[in-house]
Amino acid sequence: MAADLRRVLRDQTTQVHEDTESAFAAIDLTTPEGLDATLRAHIAALSSLLPNLAPCPVFAEEIGRLRDLAVASLAATGAAPVPSPSRDAAALDPLAVAYVVLGSRLGARVIAARLRAAQVPEGSAAYAYFRDEGSGAAWQTLRQMLASFPGEHTAIVADTSAAFRIFQQEAARFAPRFAVKEV
Ligand code: HEM
Repeated sequence: MAADLRRVLRDQTTQVHEDTESAFAAIDLTTPEGLDATLRAHIAALSSLLPNLAPCPVFAEEIGRLRDLAVASLAATGAAPVPSPSRDAAALDPLAVAYVVLGSRLGARVIAARLRAAQVPEGSAAYAYFRDEGSGAAWQTLRQMLASFPGEHTAIVADTSAAFRIFQQEAARFAPRFAVKEV
């Protein structure tokens, strides 16, 4: 019997997840500069990945909702709106993109705990993107699809790593501005 693709993806992208997590963990979300950089990095990554989801409306809708929520959170900080995405991402498998974005919401509990520890008010609209828990149904749908995925795994593992790296690149693009202020 073929291995559950979710398990394969989790096992084979452990390192790139760790690198992506580190790239974002370096940005202090509880400062205005860190919040701004993190939201802009997520909006840029989500916007460039979204076109890949056209064949899967259920994921396109949920991930579009997350992008819109990130845009609304940024607007609530009073920051200037985001420009349109500057580049098109390479064509990636929609399941790989959905896995990275919906899976990233599993780390939300860790982030919510950090926000609580820093006494960020629960109702803060600028942090709504990080506290949202609305992706559970789409994640369950994806898990079922991954559990019964019939095809070859190699290409989808590569596309999953590529989707992680887009988040990493966007963190690197916005984080230096944050890091410079910290020096
Ligand atoms: C400070 C940043 C981050 C932290 C602390 C973090 C933490 C975590 C934790 C604790 C889990 C496991 C949750 C569970 O099994 O219940 C997880 C899973 C995951 N995270 Fe992250 N993460 C971070 C950033 C990211 C980013 C930026 C992405 C991608 C854009 C990402 C993608 C994923 C994926 C795909 C999974 C699911 C793995 C699986 O179980 O199949 N994470 N993360």
